[in-house]
Amino acid sequence: MLVGGKGTRLRPLTLSAPKPLLPTAGVPFLAHQLTRAAECGITHVVLATSYRAEMFTEAFGTGEDFGLSIDYVHESEPLGTGGGIRNAAALLRGGPDDPIVVLNGDVLTGHDLPAQVDLHRKKDAAVTLHLVPVEDPSRYGCVPTDSSGRVTAFLEKTPNPVTNQINAGCYVFRRSVIDTIPAGQVVSVERETFPGLIASGAVVMGYAEAAYWLDVGTPEAFVRGSCDVVLGALHSPALGGTPGVCLVLGDARVAPDAQLSGGTTVGYGAVIQAGAIVSGSVVFDGASIGAGAVVRDSIIGRDATIVGGALLDGVVIGDGAYVGPGNELTRGLRLWPGARLEDTSVRFSSDA
Ligand code: GDD
Ligand code: MG
Repeated sequence: MLVGGKGTRLRPLTLSAPKPLLPTAGVPFLAHQLTRAAECGITHVVLATSYRAEMFTEAFGTGEDFGLSIDYVHESEPLGTGGGIRNAAALLRGGPDDPIVVLNGDVLTGHDLPAQVDLHRKKDAAVTLHLVPVEDPSRYGCVPTDSSGRVTAFLEKTPNPVTNQINAGCYVFRRSVIDTIPAGQVVSVERETFPGLIASGAVVMGYAEAAYWLDVGTPEAFVRGSCDVVLGALHSPALGGTPGVCLVLGDARVAPDAQLSGGTTVGYGAVIQAGAIVSGSVVFDGASIGAGAVVRDSIIGRDATIVGGALLDGVVIGDGAYVGPGNELTRGLRLWPGARLEDTSVRFSSDA
């Protein structure tokens, strides 16, 4: 699993924790991938870390809680997606022809991984890519295929996508193909390895399945993904309990007349006061939302304070930040950790 990115699009949340460790429906994001991997029969996982590497070991240890054996490799300078896969290969078990599953560490997916591996074996492919249709393919790796499902090109973040079918960030590699990636240098699997394999005539297969899929790399997507897991739109074995309209964790306190909906998670030790309305949001541990505040489609960082009467819609509030009474913060605004918005007359909107 590739978990070395800096998560810049999710700042300021990723200043204190890497993207795969952000609390998502009550657990670190990657726990959803790990439990799914275990459910699909995977037993050994190598985490390719770079940014904040030590936090992964603290969170997942040997992996026994997941029924997995987890190893860690570290890139002191990020080696890119291809370099990261090559670096992790040193710890892989198995022989040269064995299939190796590689996952981007920021994807929620409900696709049938064993079926992807079956296709890979059946076609004796070098690599088999999970492909999904999306509305805006220019933000992803655009992957056209021929009528037999064979990949004909790999166009990373092209302004002129030729299809709306994109790379979903889950690959099955033949082990020996990983060994051909140059070691110890920065390599992009999307810009170098895949186009190179296709040009050389290697069999690169597409496994197209339009099951639930989401890259949680932006605040909007992150909050959507967390809510979808809580609501049960994506089944995650890591969700401790049954899906519902909200998830209130442990010792969180929610006033009886507060309204929680849309898959909102309220973290450990968080407080939601009387009459507050919180929908489609993620409230991290220890945060507090005052009486009558309205919070929609937002992420409220650890120990942040939203005072009663504030209105928040589509925003990211950094850890420990403070939003005073009467403030209205809308679409796309991001408040940095520890920031204080005292003035009751402030209105912020990124669209303004
Ligand atoms: N170990 C390591 N080292 N991991 C890395 C590095 C690195 O240098 N750079 C990125 N990663 C990890 C990130 O942590 C993330 O889990 C994954 O690789 C993909 O990086 P993103 O930064 O999230 O890429 P993206 O979302 O813009 O694009 C990728 O994912 C799309 C699907 O979500 C590409 O693979 C696209 O082709 C694809 O469509
Ligand atoms: Mg991504």
